[in-house]
Amino acid sequence: MKIELKDKKVFFENQGLRKEIHPFWLRERINGDKFIDKGSQQRLFDPTKLKENIKIDNLNLSKDFLEVTFNDGACTKLTIQNILKEFSNINEVKYIKKIKWDSSLKDFKNFEFKDNFFEEKEMYDALVSFYQYGFVIFKKVPTRDNFIVNFANSIGSIRRTNFGEFFDVKSKPNPNDLAYTSLPLAPHTDNPYRNPVPCIQMLHCIENEVSGGFSTLVDGFTVTQKLKKDFPNYHKILTEIKVRFQFMDQTVVLEDWAEMIKLDDNGNFKQVRFSPRLDFVPLIDKDKLELYYSARKKISELYNSDKFKIEFKLSSGDLLMMDNYRLLHGRTAYDANEGNRFLQGCYIDYDSTEGKLKHLKRKLNI
Ligand SMILES: [Fe+2]
Repeated sequence: MKIELKDKKVFFENQGLRKEIHPFWLRERINGDKFIDKGSQQRLFDPTKLKENIKIDNLNLSKDFLEVTFNDGACTKLTIQNILKEFSNINEVKYIKKIKWDSSLKDFKNFEFKDNFFEEKEMYDALVSFYQYGFVIFKKVPTRDNFIVNFANSIGSIRRTNFGEFFDVKSKPNPNDLAYTSLPLAPHTDNPYRNPVPCIQMLHCIENEVSGGFSTLVDGFTVTQKLKKDFPNYHKILTEIKVRFQFMDQTVVLEDWAEMIKLDDNGNFKQVRFSPRLDFVPLIDKDKLELYYSARKKISELYNSDKFKIEFKLSSGDLLMMDNYRLLHGRTAYDANEGNRFLQGCYIDYDSTEGKLKHLKRKLNI
């Protein structure tokens, strides 16, 4: 990739492809104290108020800089590296490669909580690991005073829901969700009925005295890739049919229509939703429904299969942070008479982890 000049025009060349850069694109990237606020890096001018027929009067290209004078009198010195960065379209998070995993995943790296580690390399490494595997476990996180709130807000901002800022996961009488019982929970994603679905769930173990109650995780990315390979028609229909997910209690009715496997604009994996106690398929053609039901049964088999599931016990102080768009989670049953099992949970969104990761990358010059 490089920048070239010809006849007062700027060209961007990449792998033999040469394209002119619109003068306005350069004009609205004008920098300097007069045009950009130093602290916030926000524009001090409104580019929509500039005249449209911006042209280049003068150009000078050196190894690191492009100097431009425009026909409205403005001039600027742009860093070549910054221009190229915009063309390479690098998003630090998007380009962290997902590592597919199944039940053979052992000895994943845990990260130990320390005071102020939110601003250190350790946190950067933990976030990279989170984006690779879809989850990360922090050890020795203080269990006092609902510390999960503090923890979540030190990475980004907590995402409050109708369950509150955070929620206590323990068996209780008359629960409004099966999570608050001692029953086993099959692999599921949380809150598929919300719009938007919370991106990341944190679960902090305060105490776990029971012999059961193991936490389970399944990589929805691995499973849906497997489904696509072995049963492409099942995969296809689950990416096409929008299902109604629903939650209701005394105070609220939450509903959203969505595909069980959501792909992005390029047809790549984006999100899974799975919660077969809460999904309602629309009344479509019988043949299509036939295929849909077979597909749902198959993906359920895969999600619940021991081949894809990891199982581990959270101990007091462990904090599991998992991607609710990629992973499914669950737990094995436990006997509430054996002792206390008490977890606290909350949600954050991708802007929290992405923002933190990019900040640490910039700050630590990684
Ligand atoms: Fe859950």
